[in-house]
Amino acid sequence: MKKVVVSAPGKLHLSGEHAVVYGKPAVLVATSKRLYIEIKSQISNLKSQNGISKLKEKDDYLSKIIQLVEKKYKTEIKNCVIAINSDIPIGAGMGSSAALAVATTGALREWLGKPWNPTEINELAFEAEKIQHGNPSGGDNTVASFGGILWFRKEFEFLKSFWLLPFKIPKDFSQFVIINTGRSETTKDLVVGVVGEKKKQLGKKFTKWLDEVENTTKKIVQSIHDEKETGFKQSFQVNERLLEEIGVVSSSTKKLILEIEKTGGVAKISGAGGVKTGSGMVIAFHEKPQILIDMAKKYGYPSFQVQLGGEGVKREEVVV
Ligand code: MEV
Repeated sequence: MKKVVVSAPGKLHLSGEHAVVYGKPAVLVATSKRLYIEIKSQISNLKSQNGISKLKEKDDYLSKIIQLVEKKYKTEIKNCVIAINSDIPIGAGMGSSAALAVATTGALREWLGKPWNPTEINELAFEAEKIQHGNPSGGDNTVASFGGILWFRKEFEFLKSFWLLPFKIPKDFSQFVIINTGRSETTKDLVVGVVGEKKKQLGKKFTKWLDEVENTTKKIVQSIHDEKETGFKQSFQVNERLLEEIGVVSSSTKKLILEIEKTGGVAKISGAGGVKTGSGMVIAFHEKPQILIDMAKKYGYPSFQVQLGGEGVKREEVVV
């Protein structure tokens, strides 16, 4: 039986989220959490909910991605079933939708017999992300395609430059914990509705905000490169304050981050954020990570530790 399994990683933003939509650099890192797409031949007399024709009838992201691939390659994909398996938290700033777009376009291209090509997978996934998010930078799908720690900048709609940083977060930096504060808004609500509106209100001051984020992003990369933890922590904290200033951090998340800072740690939201309830994933660094785990528990938020610098889109299994 023909079978294809392709996976893509979830991501975290170390710096530059939102500003990246307006042409400023961002640093993204692929994580060890992954999403898997499995495509198998459909046994003809079996009516499966995962059958391609049933999936295409739905009004969800997977269906839109399938239709985009069909349109691109002028073909109809039939007689197969598609299953999604993922350990990336959904809608929490860890790039679950970009991982879905990248793994699905990768798996469907493989299913159609196209040569394995992460650059083309990335381009197609970006088209999907535009349908889903309105005005994405393309950073999330690029890190899901290429993995590692990525310096990313959208120069034009048609040109994005990125660089896989040839170094890792130093081992002697404090350990970090990811805290999921949850959120009520979509990425589009936050990018278009919150920051887009703020841009209109702030006028020239928005350009100043963008420049400050860019400076901070550069300092964060420099301090990782130079293995200077103090500088890293300071810039991380500045990055959080800038995100608060632009209005994408909720009051409950601000309270949590302030409490982390009082115990000697630093923390920032990662990704689009969130205003009404939580703000999605918070990355927190502390010499004693147990303090962060206990604090997350006190607030009723799940917390976990992930490996950083995971692989990009990957063919897990191909049976032709
Ligand atoms: C969302 O994961 C990151 C944002 O910067 C949006 C984008 O880059 O498209 C908020």
